[in-house]
Amino acid sequence: MPAITFVHPDGKSERVETADGESAMQAATRHGLGGILAECGGNAMCATCHVYVDESWLARLPAIADDEDALLDGTASERLPNSRLSCQIAVTSELDGLVLKLPERQV
Ligand code: FES
Repeated sequence: MPAITFVHPDGKSERVETADGESAMQAATRHGLGGILAECGGNAMCATCHVYVDESWLARLPAIADDEDALLDGTASERLPNSRLSCQIAVTSELDGLVLKLPERQV
């Protein structure tokens, strides 16, 4: 199973195993990871699953869709060039080892 490492704002990290077909957000919430709220349940409507993708992984992620791009303009923490919505990141074996940094706040 691919695994993701989430890095909290204080620098602590948590490694989370994913299940087949899961998004990064689903893996995080299934493990009770703090820092991902996912209020809309992954429907690309809330932007409370905001993450900063480690720069070394950015080019390996699928392109941002228009709805994700629009929502990222409304994140509680500053949008940066490596901002993504974790509910829109489907974790595949190619993304095993992905590192996602959590923002200071989601609301
Ligand atoms: S969970 Fe709501 S936009 Fe990702």
